[in-house]
Amino acid sequence: MKSTQRAPSIRHDQADVFTSTPDRIDPDKNVIATYYIDVVEPLTIDEAGVTIAAEQSVGTWTDVGTTNQWIADNLAAKVFEWRYDDGKHSGILKVAYPILLIDYETGGFPNLLAILAGNFMGFTPIQSSKLLDVSLPKDIIRSFSGPKFGIDGLRVLIGTSQDRRPHLGATAKPKVGLTADELSQAFAEAAMGGIDTCKDDETMLNQKFSPLLERVSKVTEALDRVKSQTGKQVIYFPQVTTEAHKILDLAEKLLSHGANGLMVNFMAAGFSALRALSEDPSIKVPLHAHRAGHAAITRNPKHGISVKVISLFARLAGADLLHVGTARGKLGGKEKFAEIPETVAAIKGPLEHVKPVFPVASGGLHPGIFPQNVELIGKDVQLQLGGGIHGHPWGTRSGALAGRQAIDAIMQNVPLEEYARGHKELKVALEHWGEQYAKADVFTAVPD
Ligand code: 3PG
Ligand code: 3PG
Ligand code: MG
Repeated sequence: MKSTQRAPSIRHDQADVFTSTPDRIDPDKNVIATYYIDVVEPLTIDEAGVTIAAEQSVGTWTDVGTTNQWIADNLAAKVFEWRYDDGKHSGILKVAYPILLIDYETGGFPNLLAILAGNFMGFTPIQSSKLLDVSLPKDIIRSFSGPKFGIDGLRVLIGTSQDRRPHLGATAKPKVGLTADELSQAFAEAAMGGIDTCKDDETMLNQKFSPLLERVSKVTEALDRVKSQTGKQVIYFPQVTTEAHKILDLAEKLLSHGANGLMVNFMAAGFSALRALSEDPSIKVPLHAHRAGHAAITRNPKHGISVKVISLFARLAGADLLHVGTARGKLGGKEKFAEIPETVAAIKGPLEHVKPVFPVASGGLHPGIFPQNVELIGKDVQLQLGGGIHGHPWGTRSGALAGRQAIDAIMQNVPLEEYARGHKELKVALEHWGEQYAKADVFTAVPD
């Protein structure tokens, strides 16, 4: 790269303040961000990388007399690696941000995001930019508690530490509208059919037709009644997603009304809302992290923030369960087959002391497509169904039974069609939803 490229603001005659080479970047002393960028000709991506490193660290659009040598030496971010697509105007580049630049202790996620995905994303000559990946130094990772339960903790709660089967979760459907009595009856039916967990849908909160606290009390009582018959405690995750200044107070109310789990949509409430819940010592229940709306920033392959990054942040913020997408569900197409394994690796792979997160597959699932989802995500997965349970032709209890039968078939390595011969609820589910998501299509789309 040309070291004569002018960087804004700081020692413009020495743009290498903002450039470096891979051998000079210590991953324990820098946050490393990987970006896709697309720039206006004649600018090249490496030149734009200097602008990004400058703007996001200690530069601005002109020289300023208030800067000094210490700032340049210690705080300047550096572009250190790039790969052109066709031509030099789009491609991938890596920027290293010195740990000293980032106030992760007081600033946490807001400070990280303002630096890693900040102003430059709207710069005129940078037409589009996407934060694809982030590597964090150990010191920053250690500042987060992460999940309280994670995969093993949830398996202990649910009683699957030995067989390690996929879990079955039910989502309230219709999305909103059922009264507390109606929903508690539906979840009790699903519990009799064998679900492990149940949750509100992401737009339900305290609407007039279903007051939240009444709902929590009634669902909890109904699930306790089921437990007295079956011996099995089902976890209910009512939604706690609210304004920052109310979330801990609301969580406390939900817990005092019997909730044994909480669901928060961190895309709507923010990573910090999830973190506030997970790091509060008085909250001793698992957190189900919904991500409704993530597509607003993740979907465009050339602009925004990747699912992998938001999932990593949700893990650091303390999600015990996290939506990762589905194989042939209702949200997204073939791109999921590349995205999901990366996401699962980010939330389950080694990360210092931070526990792995239980992946949730949700959105258009039914028993007929469980095998494809388990194939793609693994047996550590909560198969989460709204329509696929409550839409069973014989009703909610049969929907849950069909789901559990499909999980049993997978654990015994028996094809669903064959298992369904002796299990009528599964048979009806397979007949009802049929070949809605062609198996061959799924597997041809999954990379080897
Ligand atoms: C839903 O709410 O319908 C989905 O579960 C959300 O989709 P996701 O699981 O892919 O985030
Ligand atoms: C969710 O929030 O998990 C979804 O709304 C599940 O609903 P579906 O199975 O009917 O898509
Ligand atoms: Mg939903």
